[in-house]
Amino acid sequence: AAKTEVNIANIPENKVQIIKWQGRPVFIYHRSQELIDQERAMNIVELRDPEEDSARSKRPEWMVLIGICTHLGCVPIPNAGVVPGGFFCPCHGSHFDTAGRVRKGPAPKNLVVPPYQFTDDQNLLIG
Ligand code: FES
Repeated sequence: AAKTEVNIANIPENKVQIIKWQGRPVFIYHRSQELIDQERAMNIVELRDPEEDSARSKRPEWMVLIGICTHLGCVPIPNAGVVPGGFFCPCHGSHFDTAGRVRKGPAPKNLVVPPYQFTDDQNLLIG
């Protein structure tokens, strides 16, 4: 699979940068400690697709997600919806938290985390 390198040095805290990987949008979210704490306080038994926040990223301050709704494939909007800092899919109203976990609406699964690695503190290799 083709790999895409992304420089993350200039993504401000609490912002999502959208890049393309293999023709798909990928969200790169620079999360503040407040957002990390918000997701880590969640009791995962309340989730439709239970996953710990810590299991969804290699570094808590960076969340990397394929930006395709798991319902019918629309692109969710960052920083929108019922979860502060989360994602909202306008097609049929699915809401995701800042870890891409579905919180509300018809999406059956969390947003997918693509394969990636940090090549250093400023660069990410997706794929
Ligand atoms: Fe996102 Fe249906 S495609 S809610």
